[in-house]
Amino acid sequence: MLLRFLFVMLEVVTSGLLVQTQLQSGFISIDCGLPEGKDYTEKTTGINYISDANFIDSGVSKTVSNEDKISHQQQLSYVRSFPNGMRNCYEISVKSATKYLIRASFLYGNYDGLNELPQFDIHLGTNLWDTVKISNQSQSIYRELMHTPTLNYVHICLVNTGKGVPFISAIEFRNMDFNNVYQTSGATTLARLVGVDFGSLTNVTYRYIDDLHDRLWEPYSNEHWTQLNTIFSDDLKNNDWELPKSVIKTAAAPKNAKGFLNFYFDALNETATHQLCYFYLHFAEVQKLAPNETREFNITINGNSFSDLLQPPNSIYTIYSGSSYYVFVKNNNISLVQTKASTLPPIINALEIYQVKDFSQLETQPDDVDAVTNIKKVYRVTHNWQGDPCAPVEFMWEGLNCNFSGTLRITSLNLSSRGIIGHIAIYISKLTELESLDLSNNSLSGNIPVFLVENLPSLKVLNLQNNNLTGLIPKALLQRSSEGILSLRLEQNPNLCESGPCEQQTKDKSKENNSVVYVLASVSAFLMLLLVVLAAANIIYIKKRKPDDVPFNMKSGDPLESKRRQYSFDEVVNMTNNFERILGRGGFGTVYYGIIDDIPVAVKMLLQSSVQGHQQFLAEVKFLMRVHHRNLTSLIGYCNEDNNIGLIYEYMANGNLNEHLLGKTNRTKFLTWEDRLQIAVDVAQGLEYLHNGCKPPIIHRDIKCANILLNETFQAKLADLGLSKSFIKSGDTHVSTVVAGTLGYLDPEYETSKKLTEKSDVYSFGVVLLKLITGQATTLSNNAHISEWVGSVVARGDIEGIVEPRLERDFDIYSAWKAVEIAMACVSITSKERPCMRDVVVELKKCLAVESARKNVGAKDSNELLTMNLVTEISPVAR
Ligand SMILES: *[C@@H]1O[C@H](CO)[C@@H](O)[C@H](O)[C@H]1NC(C)=O
Ligand SMILES: *[C@@H]1O[C@H](CO)[C@@H](O)[C@H](O)[C@H]1NC(C)=O
Ligand SMILES: *[C@@H]1O[C@H](CO)[C@@H](O)[C@H](O)[C@H]1NC(C)=O
Ligand SMILES: *[C@@H]1O[C@H](CO)[C@@H](O)[C@H](O)[C@H]1NC(C)=O
Ligand SMILES: *[C@@H]1O[C@H](CO)[C@@H](O)[C@H](O)[C@H]1NC(C)=O
Ligand SMILES: *[C@@H]1O[C@H](CO)[C@@H](O)[C@H](O)[C@H]1NC(C)=O
Ligand SMILES: *[C@@H]1O[C@H](CO)[C@@H](O)[C@H](O)[C@H]1NC(C)=O
Ligand SMILES: *[C@@H]1O[C@H](CO)[C@@H](O)[C@H](O)[C@H]1NC(C)=O
Ligand SMILES: *[C@@H]1O[C@H](CO)[C@@H](O)[C@H](O)[C@H]1NC(C)=O
Ligand SMILES: *[C@@H]1O[C@H](CO)[C@@H](O)[C@H](O)[C@H]1NC(C)=O
Repeated sequence: MLLRFLFVMLEVVTSGLLVQTQLQSGFISIDCGLPEGKDYTEKTTGINYISDANFIDSGVSKTVSNEDKISHQQQLSYVRSFPNGMRNCYEISVKSATKYLIRASFLYGNYDGLNELPQFDIHLGTNLWDTVKISNQSQSIYRELMHTPTLNYVHICLVNTGKGVPFISAIEFRNMDFNNVYQTSGATTLARLVGVDFGSLTNVTYRYIDDLHDRLWEPYSNEHWTQLNTIFSDDLKNNDWELPKSVIKTAAAPKNAKGFLNFYFDALNETATHQLCYFYLHFAEVQKLAPNETREFNITINGNSFSDLLQPPNSIYTIYSGSSYYVFVKNNNISLVQTKASTLPPIINALEIYQVKDFSQLETQPDDVDAVTNIKKVYRVTHNWQGDPCAPVEFMWEGLNCNFSGTLRITSLNLSSRGIIGHIAIYISKLTELESLDLSNNSLSGNIPVFLVENLPSLKVLNLQNNNLTGLIPKALLQRSSEGILSLRLEQNPNLCESGPCEQQTKDKSKENNSVVYVLASVSAFLMLLLVVLAAANIIYIKKRKPDDVPFNMKSGDPLESKRRQYSFDEVVNMTNNFERILGRGGFGTVYYGIIDDIPVAVKMLLQSSVQGHQQFLAEVKFLMRVHHRNLTSLIGYCNEDNNIGLIYEYMANGNLNEHLLGKTNRTKFLTWEDRLQIAVDVAQGLEYLHNGCKPPIIHRDIKCANILLNETFQAKLADLGLSKSFIKSGDTHVSTVVAGTLGYLDPEYETSKKLTEKSDVYSFGVVLLKLITGQATTLSNNAHISEWVGSVVARGDIEGIVEPRLERDFDIYSAWKAVEIAMACVSITSKERPCMRDVVVELKKCLAVESARKNVGAKDSNELLTMNLVTEISPVAR
């Protein structure tokens, strides 16, 4: 007796410790209605329950009657009840693609003092989970689902069906991803219909900590059955289902020696005709059999054979259905029949039945859900904005409309007269199928962002009247309105203007033909002049200091240096003037123009879906903020708030190299041979720094002309470095960065090695150099790669056939040969034959020196050349 007592004590103590550490790791245990800050550990189970306050924003907290409190586990003491609204939803964060047992528990306990037993529905996401009918105020009931969420959250909704106020007592999630058990064919959600412990001697429903996975095992007995307790006790070997010992060590057998066990169950749904179930029957021989004794039986379900000639072994043995079985609505019959040869009757230790749920109701497309959830937060919308925005259609969020054909998309947003304040939120631009947007009669301020036109191609109705919007109306918006594509309402915004000087000056220095811009232009011209003067002063200063070689503190020269940091989303909204001007767009997001302390910046807002691992991404961003070189675009800061991820870079006034090589836009400049060599040297130096100056070395992974940016003095800098590790491949065609480089620039060895190395960057650089030399595309019209074409022309010795014809032979022939030679070495098929960037830099500088010397013969003295070089040397960022 004493021994047993000690043993039990020991068990409690050790299990108590484990509870705190790892055992409940896959558990989410929510006590609904529990006030915040009152989290506790339930006495009888040791499960840690938390308040539901952070999972829902509606409903009221109530408690059940004292008698009902005493006779139940603590998590049933409080309830959350929902007197208001048709549908109220919990949003619970989970791990996607993980199998969970989800349990909802209900104990009415006359919490409202009305003594009226309610009936209501419970939904999981957009699907009807079950109808909850309370038939006894003092009896708790629960519903269990085995479900694998596809997203990283789950909505559990209580729905008023006009038969009483819905309420809920507890919500529990248990991770069921262990040992590949409970496998089903196809992505199905199952309801746990039956979980029975046969032959129980205690009348206790076992759960955690007897069952580490916290399945519920209800005792079941029957007057015709007898209870068998195992003689093998605690060394009973468990199997993959990891059943609790206390459940498996007892079994039921028929009282009469020659006999059978029969039991019945009803399916979940009284009306559905097709009902499918999975069965798990758990056995273990609990008696020591004499040599002349056998226990052997057949199992049938509704008269059909399920398993033949089972002899329960001395360890736990589970018979289960690999695929689902059709069952009847009522009185399904499972029977275990003793065979003629058997001397002992059948036994069974535990049984589980799961029924397939038809969860086929569509959910709103996740990007739309994200966007509208953020809109809800920003504008503090309440109403019925809970659960899935579009489905089921009767609970669609007020003010939304959706397209139900194909994928569920939001097509209309109406927040008219909701008293909302602030800017026109950028999240609206993520509702890319939006056809109608009504924000009229609110107190919105700020400008009308251009994303309303740029990102919403289907927009047909836009009503912004009766707000306090300011600034210029985007031209594209007016144009769409005048073309009759868009019905545009902007009246009663006193500070909005179509053209001419606006009351509110916009931060965008766009080239509008009006006086404000002229003023701005002359101011900036003055600033430029000032800068030039200062720069000149600096040059002189450096020139004087140079011979002494005194270290010069470059950092103090960089106006943005001290500002490198994390920015809030509000700050990003401000610096971009609410995302007013788009600089470019790539597969990972849109780049906007912004200003920090009067210094222009480029703000890249990343698509949520393009960032793979948040932690890894942030680590990389922080690492890259420490990488500085005059030929790398500096990452000035980042924003990471509420799913808004933005990277803030230095602004590069002259766009990317591609534009200039192609001569696409009117602002492009035709690059001379010297310009080209200077750009090549710049890029090579940037890359050399990544390979040799950084620890660990950085492989750029995506060197190409589009990733080479040019500042106002046409100094070249590499962009988008190193981040590709965090990015997943996007199906977008105008992707600027993909995981494994860009076609045409990609190391041919990558195909076999699947690895990008420094030499892969060298290859890509070689392609860039070839493009600088030739002005050709990576793939020529005859499908030959640029390197093949150059190779064949070189073989003919025809250098003038290679170099960009528009240069009209205005280049030093030696430097051209040299450049082609370097480029061809870089694009060697085998990486071993490619030079390293250090050598490339040295050789390219020689080319440049030759060409510069030719240009400067007579006309300019060498002193000037020295000054030019110094200008690059004193650029803000240092090695
Ligand atoms: C309700 O359940 C309690 C406890 O299980 C039981 O004692 C009582 O008789 C039940 N009441 C009714 C009306 O069934
Ligand atoms: C279990 O419950 C049944 C019926 O409710 C009762 O007859 C039996 O005595 C109970 N056994 C124990 C051990 O409490
Ligand atoms: C039961 O089945 C019917 C018919 O398939 C269906 O309309 C109803 O929603 C189901 N009820 C539940 C609670 O699943
Ligand atoms: C098995 O053998 C024992 C004696 O060893 C005997 O008492 C018993 O009746 C036998 N049982 C059967 C079913 O033959
Ligand atoms: C249940 O199955 C057993 C064995 O197949 C059979 O003897 C019995 O009649 C069945 N009972 C019902 C109600 O179907
Ligand atoms: C049990 O199954 C075996 C094999 O299918 C069959 O031969 C035997 O007749 C069955 N026995 C009973 C009692 O149904
Ligand atoms: C709904 O979406 C489908 C498929 O994307 C499209 O063909 C249809 O025109 C849309 N309907 C409306 C009313 O927008
Ligand atoms: C938006 O809702 C208001 C009423 O709340 C309605 O008057 C208005 O017509 C709706 N706007 C659109 C575009 O449907
Ligand atoms: C504008 O909204 C206010 C509440 O914010 C409402 O009282 C008023 O009727 C609305 N006016 C119009 C024209 O919709
Ligand atoms: C509108 O905005 C201006 C400044 O932008 C402010 O001075 C004014 O008070 C605002 N009016 C209203 C009605 O909010």
